[in-house]
Amino acid sequence: MPIIKVENLTKNYRRQIRNGGFVGSLQNLFNAKYEIKTAVNDISFQIDEGEVIGYLGPNGAGKSTTIKMLSGILLPTSGNIEVNGLIPYKNRKEHASKIGVVFGQRTQLWWDIPVSESLNLMRYMYNVSEKQYRAKFEYLYGLFGYR
Ligand SMILES: Nc1ncnc2c1ncn2[C@@H]1O[C@H](COP(=O)(O)OP(=O)(O)OP(=O)(O)O)[C@@H](O)[C@H]1O
Ligand SMILES: [Mg+2]
Repeated sequence: MPIIKVENLTKNYRRQIRNGGFVGSLQNLFNAKYEIKTAVNDISFQIDEGEVIGYLGPNGAGKSTTIKMLSGILLPTSGNIEVNGLIPYKNRKEHASKIGVVFGQRTQLWWDIPVSESLNLMRYMYNVSEKQYRAKFEYLYGLFGYR
């Protein structure tokens, strides 16, 4: 049973063509010109529950754009996506509460607050009960011994 279904997914970005110099900046303001960039071009795939997938491609191939559409951050230009029975961009909140996404090697921890406070914040975001949170926290504290 596929848990992720992607059918004929396409994403076009609209990008302003910017001119340099003083005249150019006036043209940018009053006579803006745009170009269409196709970042994801008609892709289809299905992923079954429990499958572990690597999604590879050269820089600019459209990997991040695909993940952003799968996570509901971006609206597809055309095509269909279903994840866990939900359409990501239509059921954005419910969908986001059930998935985890990490972009660009950034972690879910924030530099300026202690690890325990980062984790506690995630507890509210993911609606984890106090009891379950305590148990997991003590387990991790036992492993790493660091607050
Ligand atoms: N917000 C945006 N507006 C316009 N063009 C964009 C935008 N985001 C990405 N692009 C363009 O869409 C194409 C796909 O970009 P994307 O970031 O999805 O590629 P990627 O496969 O994740 O690349 P990388 O391996 O460098 O992370 C690129 O040509 C990029 O310049
Ligand atoms: Mg990327």
